[in-house]
Amino acid sequence: MKNNILVLGGKGKTGSRIVTRLKNLGHHVRVGSRTENPAFDWNKPAGWPAVLEGMDSMYITYQPDLAVPGAKEAIAALTKVAKEKGVQKLVLLSGKGEVEAERCEQIVLNSGIETTIVRASWFNQNFSESFFLPPIQQGVVALPKTQLKAPYVDANDIADVVVKILLNKGHEGKIYELTGPRLLNFEEIIAEIAKATGRNLQFIPITLAEYVGAMKEEGVPEDVVWLMDYLFTEVLDNEANQVVTNDIEKLLGRKPTDFLEYIAETTVTGVWNQVVEV
Ligand SMILES: NC(=O)c1ccc[n+]([C@@H]2O[C@H](COP(=O)([O-])OP(=O)(O)OC[C@H]3O[C@@H](n4cnc5c(N)ncnc54)[C@H](OP(=O)(O)O)[C@@H]3O)[C@@H](O)[C@H]2O)c1
Repeated sequence: MKNNILVLGGKGKTGSRIVTRLKNLGHHVRVGSRTENPAFDWNKPAGWPAVLEGMDSMYITYQPDLAVPGAKEAIAALTKVAKEKGVQKLVLLSGKGEVEAERCEQIVLNSGIETTIVRASWFNQNFSESFFLPPIQQGVVALPKTQLKAPYVDANDIADVVVKILLNKGHEGKIYELTGPRLLNFEEIIAEIAKATGRNLQFIPITLAEYVGAMKEEGVPEDVVWLMDYLFTEVLDNEANQVVTNDIEKLLGRKPTDFLEYIAETTVTGVWNQVVEV
């Protein structure tokens, strides 16, 4: 049976990969995006019923993060609309080790709709499709907490897991924790990217206060600065997050993607060699 599946953040790092996989399997996919028609915008709840109309399942990625003020209320309001519209399955992307995100998970788990939570550690793709990319392109990477290790996970693995959950039974009420196969710190990552690309990447360890101060100076919005501060403190600097899990292997029957495989795949796209003037 082919499903009608709504993928929120359908143009983002995990969502776009999930959309591709589901379409390739012949499912009817609605891309949740501010630039689709009907449009999905977390800040415009009046538009949500039209987007959820006729959907059997929904993959939820909240923006910018389930830890920000207002996320709980938005998630509660969305699940209410989902219930009214007869959506039968929800998969929520959450973050590992975020207390605030866990409150949102509970709201979705208690929504009365079959729900699975996918808690992911930081994505590999943050270095090629998100906030860590511009400094790499500029050739100077200044980051705090450089010795802390995290089990970066590949967005392709997350997409494979989410598709499996969306299309199969047996995952209701479960919370999966997805990590990559090993722990890495920023210095090791930047050194590996430099080696693979042949670029001379300068790495500068700084304090979190300096990092936050630099973002403010660059005019980064206050809520984004708050979120980055939160992520570096609560998520990265949290021993509970510095562990490798085997949920990806249990679910997919194969090992998670190693960071070096991700580096090899990304290097050939040339994205790290697009030199940007500062
Ligand atoms: N990145 C990580 O390492 C990581 C790790 C664990 C969990 N997570 C969680 O994953 C979720 C996604 O985070 P991400 O950083 O990876 O982003 P992402 O999935 O790459 O999503 C970016 C997308 O968000 C959409 N978006 C932005 N503002 C929106 C709004 N007001 N309404 C609707 N859509 C909006 C944009 O889509 P359009 O422009 O098409 O509207 C954009 O394509 C977050 O909840 C985050 O906490 C992320």
